[in-house]
Amino acid sequence: MKQTHYVAREPDEQGFIHYTDTEHAVWNTLVTRQLKLVQGRACQEYLDGIEQLALPHDRIPQLAEINQVLSGTTGWQVARVPALIPFQTFFELLASKRFPVATFIRTPEELDYLQEPDIFHEIFGHCPLLTNPWFAEFTHTYGKLGLAASKEQRVFLARLYWMTIEFGLVDTPRGRRIYGGGILSSPKETLYSLSDAPEHQAFDPLECMRTPYRIDILQPLYFVLPELKRLFDLAHQDIMALVAHAQQLGLHAPKFPPKAA
Ligand SMILES: [Fe+2]
Repeated sequence: MKQTHYVAREPDEQGFIHYTDTEHAVWNTLVTRQLKLVQGRACQEYLDGIEQLALPHDRIPQLAEINQVLSGTTGWQVARVPALIPFQTFFELLASKRFPVATFIRTPEELDYLQEPDIFHEIFGHCPLLTNPWFAEFTHTYGKLGLAASKEQRVFLARLYWMTIEFGLVDTPRGRRIYGGGILSSPKETLYSLSDAPEHQAFDPLECMRTPYRIDILQPLYFVLPELKRLFDLAHQDIMALVAHAQQLGLHAPKFPPKAA
């Protein structure tokens, strides 16, 4: 695992997590800015989730507040984890309908660029759609498959996760929209992903698994679902057969330059 310079906050005896004023201010800046940007750009199911969560603007929410909403909709929970967790723990959590959230927030210096998923990314990016039964079902299935998968299979599953849950787009009656949490927690990528700059391809899970990615750049290619329910249908397809097929066919050439050494 990579090293992190962030430390997740531990709860006190009452289970309450204390953050500093600076940390609450970072949340406020991020949430205020991003709530404006996602209007007309995020899919309706995400915006419905935002409404249900009713996130505070002036402070970082406690995980219990999020759990109250998630348990009442899809039965999901958020689980407090240290900054970085092993793949095994990640899959164990998803398989038991718990979404990992590291309880730290980026520093003001890293407001726009952060490679480590912080509490803003996890809560603002992912939790709204965890209120949606289709998205919740796919995420749960993904966790169960990942838990049973080999190390080699997990690499292919990880690409599917990246191209959907993190960086997915979806066509809707009102036009092309965003549902990926990696995009929705980034102001830059929210605008860029829907622009003419990147390539858009019709969603194909096999192609997703064969597409290499880099975590530190704007994505050169996004996959577009025909509708959000496609994720639910995918959860009931033989995803591991697709993994086997992708392993046979191998990876596509990357559409990005190699990372500078
Ligand atoms: Fe994420």
